[in-house]
Parts: sequence; C-alpha cells; structure tokens
Amino acid sequence: MRSHTCGELHRENQGQRVTLCGWVSSARNHGGILFVDLRDRYGVTQITFDPEAGGTPPEILEQASRLGNEDVIRVQGRVALRAEGQNNPNRCTGEIEVFADQLELLSKSEPSPIDLSEKNETSIETRLRYRYLDLRRPSLLQGLAFRSKFCHALREHLLGQDFIEVETPILTRTTPEGARDYLVPSRIHSNKFYALPQSPQIFKQLLMVGGVDRYFQIARCFRDEDLRADRQPEFTQLDLEMSFVEEEDVLQVVEAAVVHAFKRCLGIDLKTPFPRLRHEEAMERFGNDKPDLRFGLELVDLSALVARTEFKVFTSALEAGGCVKAIPVPEGADLSRKEIQGLEEVAKEYGARGLAWCKLGDEGLSGPVAKFFAGDLQEELIERTGLKPGGLLLFGAGDRTMVLRSLAEVRNALGKKLGLTPEGEFAFAWVTHFPLFEWNEEKQRFEFSHHPFTAPEDWDVDFSKDTEKVASRAYDLVLNGWELGSGSIRIHRQDVQQRIFEFLGMSPEEAQEKFGFLLNAFRYGAPPHGGFAFGIDRIVTLALGLDSIRDVIAFPKTASAACLMTDAPSPADPAQLEELKIRLIPKKEEAQA
Ligand code: AMO
Ligand code: AMP
Repeated sequence: MRSHTCGELHRENQGQRVTLCGWVSSARNHGGILFVDLRDRYGVTQITFDPEAGGTPPEILEQASRLGNEDVIRVQGRVALRAEGQNNPNRCTGEIEVFADQLELLSKSEPSPIDLSEKNETSIETRLRYRYLDLRRPSLLQGLAFRSKFCHALREHLLGQDFIEVETPILTRTTPEGARDYLVPSRIHSNKFYALPQSPQIFKQLLMVGGVDRYFQIARCFRDEDLRADRQPEFTQLDLEMSFVEEEDVLQVVEAAVVHAFKRCLGIDLKTPFPRLRHEEAMERFGNDKPDLRFGLELVDLSALVARTEFKVFTSALEAGGCVKAIPVPEGADLSRKEIQGLEEVAKEYGARGLAWCKLGDEGLSGPVAKFFAGDLQEELIERTGLKPGGLLLFGAGDRTMVLRSLAEVRNALGKKLGLTPEGEFAFAWVTHFPLFEWNEEKQRFEFSHHPFTAPEDWDVDFSKDTEKVASRAYDLVLNGWELGSGSIRIHRQDVQQRIFEFLGMSPEEAQEKFGFLLNAFRYGAPPHGGFAFGIDRIVTLALGLDSIRDVIAFPKTASAACLMTDAPSPADPAQLEELKIRLIPKKEEAQA
C-alpha cells in the first residue's frame, strides 16, 4: 500500500513519486494551502496540498480540508525540497515535503479521548483505558522498539555463549519468591489449583539436574504483591542458570550480556568489572543494599565519638543499643534551613525522629547541634568526617535499621537535589554475600532473604547460631539505586536443602509435599549450579532514563493490578464457575443486603 514510511524520505528522494500511509497528526490551513503532518511508527512527514506550487487537484484539496486528527489516510505525490528557511531540523524528514495529488481516506477517527502530544495532559487512568491510542505517541513506540532490540541483543549474546533457550511451564505449582501466587483452578481436577510461576526458579534448577548446563529464558513471571513504580503483577525476567559454576562465573556472564546489550542498543561502553561490594559493606557505607553509585555522600559511623557529647538525642540512642551515623555533604552549607527541613521530612517518612545537622564555616561549626561539639570533639568530628569549610553534616540517631534506611533515603534525595544523578550515566554494581535469613518482625520468625534454594557460604554452618549473620552465596545487580536483579549459587545437596526447609519451620512431610520433586531430583546426581535473573522492564526503563516500568510495557496494569482497557479482572460466568466447582462467597455488603 505504501512505497515509503513516514520517517524515510530525505533530500536524495527529491522529485520521486511516493505513496505514504499513516495517521493525520495535525492539519493546518494556510490560505488555500493545507499542511498535514502524517505520522507512523517511523516518523512524521509533511504532506502539502497546494493547487499552485504542488499541483493538487481542487477536489483533493477540498477532500483534504475535511481531514481530522487521527484519520488514517493514504496519499500519493511528489517529493520536493522545502523552501529556503522552512527546514525542520528536529525531524528526520525535515528537509522535504510531499506535494500530494491523490488522497484516500482509509479510516475516519472520532476525536481522540486523550492528548496525543508529548505534553500529554490526560490523566494516567484515561490513558491506560485508551492504551492503544497512547501507544501512538512516539516515546511509547520507541520504548517498545528499544525493548525489543534490547532483548534481541541479550538473546544473541547468550546464544553465542552456548546457552540454550528453554520454555518452562506457566501452569505449575507454587514457586516461593516471597510474594503471593496467582492461582488457576483446574476443571479436570476439581478443588485443585495451578499456580502461575513467580519465577522459573525450580524448573531452571531441574534443568541443571537434567544436564542442560546453560539455560536462559526471557520469562514472564507473576506475583500478587503490592505494586509500585518498579513493580507490576506480571513482568519479564532475563532468567539464566549454569552448572559447575561459582559466583564469579555467573557474574561475568551477566556482566558481559549487559555490556553487549548496552553497546548494541545505546552505543555505550560500560566499564567492567562492575564494582563488587559485600552486603554489610554496602549497608555500612550507603545505608542500603542498592546504593546509587553515581555519587559518593557515604555514611560515617559516629557512635563512639558522640558517646562523649551531652546531646541527649545521641546518647539515649546509644544507650538503647542504637547507633549514630552521619552524611558529610561537601558544599552542603549552601542548603537553606528550608531545604534541610525537606530532607528531614524524608528521614521522618522512613521512621527517623529528626535529622540533626551542623555546618562548618571558617569560624567553626554552626547549627542546632554545633554546641555539643566543642574543642577536641569538634576537631575529631571534622577529622573523622573529612568535613571541609562549606560542608554540611546530617545526623541520624536511633535503632540501626531505621538509621540506615532513613539516611539511605536522605542520601538519595541529596543526590537528586545536588544534581549528582545525571541522565545517561549508568553506575552498575554487584552486592554479594547477602545474609541467608532475615527477621520478619510481623511474623516474629526468620525467613529466607532471597529464596530457600540459595546456598549458605558454609555448607555445614549451624543456622541457629547468630542466624542474622549467616552469609549466603546470593548476589544482586544494582543500577543507579535500583535493584535490577538477583541470583545465587544454589543448594544442590538434598541434606542441606532439607535442613533449610526445617529451619524455616517446614516439617519434613510438608517439604516433601511441596518440594518433593526437587528433593527427589537431588538424590540422582545434581551438579553444583547457580544463576541469576534480572528484570527486563526495569533495565529497559533505566536505560531509557524513564521513571516507571509502565512506560516500557505495552499493556501495563494499574497500581491495583487492574487492566483498565479490558476491565480485567472481571466476574466469571456462572456456568464457568459451575464447571470448575467453585462457589463464591458474597462480599460482606452483598451478604448483608
Ligand atoms: P527476584 O525475586 O529477586 O529473583 O527477581 C529478580 C528480578 O525481577 C524483577 N522483578 C520485578 N519486576 C517488575 N515487577 C515485579 N513485580 C518484579 N518482581 C521482581 C526485579 C528483580 O530484581 N528466581 C530468582 C532469581 C534467581 O535466583 O536466579 C528471582 O526471581 O528486577
Ligand atoms: P530536639 O532536641 O528534639 O529539639 O532535636 C534537636 C535536633 O536533633 C533537631 O534538629 C532534630 O531534627 C534532631 N533530632 C531529633 N531526634 C533525632 C534523631 N533520632 N536522629 C537525628 N536527629 C534527631
């Protein structure tokens, strides 16, 4: 139907007869001459309906003047160079226009219910309801194209490294990744359910037992969890697993795949190896396990030093077994009281009681807590924090977990505020040796911190001793303050796996019932193995400098896991429920009515 796309014609095509198809992006009438911007996935071309210079027949001009935005048309005409001074350098076809002499209306459009310009002033709900229209915006289309290219690059790289792409089941049993499962009732086996996979974790391990040796998959995962900007109920992982490997083997394979994809898709040479930090080091220096390494602003522990002050906030935090840490901010003295208050709000949002601070000027310390640091203490404080005149010191005091969490968020807010997070900079890092277990305050018990198949650093360690300190062989890949992916060396020994299940409070019978197939598999010769998975949605979002993974998913769901376009989830047909032998419990209000 067309000879060219709307992003294709250049100076060199001058004089050619062409046929283009696309959407009317805008139409402007300039006294007997009509300019139409014709848009498709590839770009925008100016179509000019001009009876004099362009030879447009009057009836075609008349027909064109009735066109509305988003009408789908086909035009034929001749490529001409634009008049002197009329070039549009922002457009790849900006040097030419097409003088149309034929026009065919392929499909009429009603007025668009959403703003299709990049200004985009429509509410997100309406945009999601009309996602097929929203997708026409170049930024979204380009996002999808980029994502496709990125996945292709990853695939290409891994296939070149002897990996085999294998599909694993979607209708399966529960896979413990820490979220809730989506359940699917079985018609044939009434009262029984499949679970959608939270990840292909168990299957990829079984593939290793099966001798696949190097597996990958661009896998869809399903998790019923609370959603945020970086979480969707269904999302995509680049999932991989390897046999006869240790940590460094996996890290290098993942690193090389990411490097290849960034080079291919963005032309960026990432520096390798990515920095590697042990988990406790990341916590100590940055306050969390996904530090943004585009900037410094590292935390300093001041517990020992401030124990000698008279400041109650500090001393009582220490007496209660807590700690005092600070962020030295070079040039931070320029921040106003109001700006510091803004940072205090951030700290409070994460549980802090306040954010004490002082500034260093030529005359020494100033600010609310300056008076507690006199003489030697002041000198020691300056030396310990490396503070220079013009610098600012922000303090967190209290329970260690809270101090780390709140200062980590203050640090991120500072990074943004001080312009230390430039777009186009990619600071990857590995965080290794995560603790094997973490304490769940709500449930008052230990839980696995990655998943229950992660190997402990020491196979024979006693889990009950110093449980919180038992190190695992799990690692995370982080980028600019986001967790991109996780992986670990796995347990391949039935006895150790059994011990982990037991420690997590699972009886041998329950373990056998839930994971018997895995435990059995380990009885028949399991190779040592390990692997990794990263979120495709997240890495593509960051690579494009966007804020939400929704922008790189064709049909995303809302924060309450609904699809506004299809209205999913939706009630089931009674006949379907009957077939599935499912009876619904009415909602409270309905029952009362
Ligand atoms: P994990 O649970 O850490 O590990 O998930 C790996 C990565 O998947 C992405 N991700 C998500 N992306 C969007 N929306 C979500 N709801 C969501 N949840 C997770 C993140 C995350 O880092 N089987 C293990 C991997 C392994 O051990 O090999 C796993 O799934 O980017
Ligand atoms: P106050 O003595 O409560 O008026 O607090 C004096 C200063 O200490 C204020 O700047 C508070 O923001 C700060 N502050 C109070 N509690 C804490 C805390 N737990 N951690 C850090 N700073 C605090």
